[in-house]
Amino acid sequence: MKKRYLMTPGPTTVPSEVLLAQAKPMIHHRTPDFNQVVRDCADGLKEVFCAPNSDVCIFASSGTGAMESAIANCFCPGDKVIVCYNGKFGQRMVQISKAYGLEPIVLEYGWQVCVNPDDVAKALEENPDARGVVVTQSETSSGILNDVEAVGKIVKNYPDCVFIVDSITGIGAVECKTDEWGIDCCMTGSQKGLMLPPGLAACTVSEKAWKAYERSTLPKFYFDWKKYKANLAKDTTPFTPAVSLMIGLAESLKLMKEEGMENIIARHAKLAEAVRQACEAIGLELFAPAEGRGNAVTPVWVPEGLDGKQLVSIMKNKYGVTIAGGQEDYAGKIIRIGHLGYVGDFDVIVCIAALEMTLKEMGYEFEAGSGIKAAEAVLMEG
Ligand SMILES: Cc1ncc(COP(=O)(O)O)c(C=O)c1O
Repeated sequence: MKKRYLMTPGPTTVPSEVLLAQAKPMIHHRTPDFNQVVRDCADGLKEVFCAPNSDVCIFASSGTGAMESAIANCFCPGDKVIVCYNGKFGQRMVQISKAYGLEPIVLEYGWQVCVNPDDVAKALEENPDARGVVVTQSETSSGILNDVEAVGKIVKNYPDCVFIVDSITGIGAVECKTDEWGIDCCMTGSQKGLMLPPGLAACTVSEKAWKAYERSTLPKFYFDWKKYKANLAKDTTPFTPAVSLMIGLAESLKLMKEEGMENIIARHAKLAEAVRQACEAIGLELFAPAEGRGNAVTPVWVPEGLDGKQLVSIMKNKYGVTIAGGQEDYAGKIIRIGHLGYVGDFDVIVCIAALEMTLKEMGYEFEAGSGIKAAEAVLMEG
């Protein structure tokens, strides 16, 4: 028997209350019992998104489905959309925009550079006919936290331009005030801060986004937002929903309400700080820039001469701790430690211990226990 720990930025660990809720016998979705589940999910998600004035759509899809829905529902072929990216997932929005025949104006940053809101302001001045701005709030591949609040203030001045935010690993880990910050479509996925298995995605739709929807001529069927709105008004879904996942979602939203959004974010901030301090104490260099580090995942450079893939593999196979490796150009060069969702102080301690033991085994020289000591110091504060 090997006890397993999942320390990746998604899928994340599912609390036993949620697992048990999902294990209940199947129910039919066109019943009053399930109507209540739909209502609880929609109300709870609005709170989690801080979006009391927006509508919410819940899809039986992974997060990418919600991303695709944002493009398909807001635009017409040939529309100009400003897409900012500093990692793999922001780049995906460029790909989706192209797939739908839009004209993306791409603001490409390196994977270690935050989106500069001034660049968005300039791009909008140069392209006042742009119909959308897209930013990834928490870029999971690079660990960057982009300042979507600042970008929202700029986009608010353009009445025909919607602000679309991928907060798939942001929601439940960092502050995201969807309505207040002028985010017209904010999205998340179930296997992240919502503490569920993969398979559900959700997005918000503001009044401004509905205006864009009315103008949009792009083809849409499964992800047609209006179908979800019309059905939600009757506490139901347009198609067969992922019944068990939604029952689980109602439960996880209940747990989140009990903890409170502010406390959830504070917990994530502390865990992230503990991991950062621990890695630095071991002598590892953090990958994301100091001015934009998120709370969901900490990417760290693998010391010179060591193989990051081997490091991930030893941690998993020998110590039972699964972390994520680097993606694309950074495969084998960075590791990514997830601290998202149902994570507590001692998950971080276990993970840092396994990291230290693995690094020792791989011949990296540092003071054993220095990471643990640094993590403990952060976790004992306040
Ligand atoms: C920031 C971000 N955007 C988009 C996605 C894509 O979501 P999915 O893999 O659920 O389709 C992910 C998944 O890791 C993500 O972290």
